[in-house]
Amino acid sequence: MRKPVKKASESKVILITGASSGLGKACAEALVERGHTVYGTSRRAKFLDNSSDPNALKMIPMDVNDDISVNRAIAHVIDAAGVIDVIVNNAGYGIAGAIENTTIDEAKALFDTNFFGVHRVCRAALPYLREQGFGHIINIGSLGGVVSIPFQAFYSASKSALASLSNGLSMELKPFGISVTRIEPGDYHTGFTANRIFVAAIDPAGVYGERCSRAIAVMEQDEQNGADPEGLANILVKIIESKHPALNYRVGIFMQRLLISLVPFLPDRILEKLLMSLYKI
Ligand SMILES: NC(=O)c1ccc[n+]([C@@H]2O[C@H](COP(=O)([O-])OP(=O)(O)OC[C@H]3O[C@@H](n4cnc5c(N)ncnc54)[C@H](OP(=O)(O)O)[C@@H]3O)[C@@H](O)[C@H]2O)c1
Repeated sequence: MRKPVKKASESKVILITGASSGLGKACAEALVERGHTVYGTSRRAKFLDNSSDPNALKMIPMDVNDDISVNRAIAHVIDAAGVIDVIVNNAGYGIAGAIENTTIDEAKALFDTNFFGVHRVCRAALPYLREQGFGHIINIGSLGGVVSIPFQAFYSASKSALASLSNGLSMELKPFGISVTRIEPGDYHTGFTANRIFVAAIDPAGVYGERCSRAIAVMEQDEQNGADPEGLANILVKIIESKHPALNYRVGIFMQRLLISLVPFLPDRILEKLLMSLYKI
């Protein structure tokens, strides 16, 4: 039998984007168990108040690519709960393929979700958060944004850009009592692998063919053997309930965190060789 979870001393109102699957779902469920009021988003959810349990996870529709959908979801939470204590910007996906074979539209679509999606949610929520005078924005980046992953470079670029945005946002929001944290996970076993988009011009027989296929196979294997999303959920609970959350947390498998911690000390060409060897290219 599972040990009952101790309730948090202070219940918070939390919005998590992309809570239908993987990390977002595990985090939403863990936060509900702690007694928080949790709104999770999915593009497939509907505004239905059909939950007989007021403490259950409340799923609401949001497409982070769509201003109207984002504004509507934020307004819904404010109407229903009166405040938003924490926003977890988690919705995102991966893209695989050579940079040369990626169209501008494919790259823009990825940035629209992974980067501008976070911007959209922040723009919609910040007027409320500033007015209430408190709030915590948590952005889910990736260790793949700290180093560039070959044949998934646009994903890495979107997460590097998000790290930079998070740092700037944190400084801009200090006077308003709003804190910003980014979490950079290594590989986790989620729907991410199945939901990864392959660029349309991926060409197994082309000039990048074999190297691209080998790199993607390594990524997929690392994700399948990745950490359990419940582990990240437990860390997120601690971050949300902490009085002084840090600016950045790197989480996941020990060896991946160790490698990333060595990055600032490795000469660039050595790091490049190491990554090329890890991804078998
Ligand atoms: N798994 C890993 O190894 C790993 C590692 C580092 C970082 N991450 C990051 O963790 C986050 C969650 O990924 P995951 O691993 O949990 O993947 P997942 O199982 O595929 O879940 C992705 C979630 O994002 C939502 N989503 C995707 N596009 C959306 C859009 N346009 N608008 C709203 N929601 C959207 C999906 O919801 P609907 O489809 O229901 O709308 C789903 O709930 C992502 O930002 C990912 O980059 C994952």
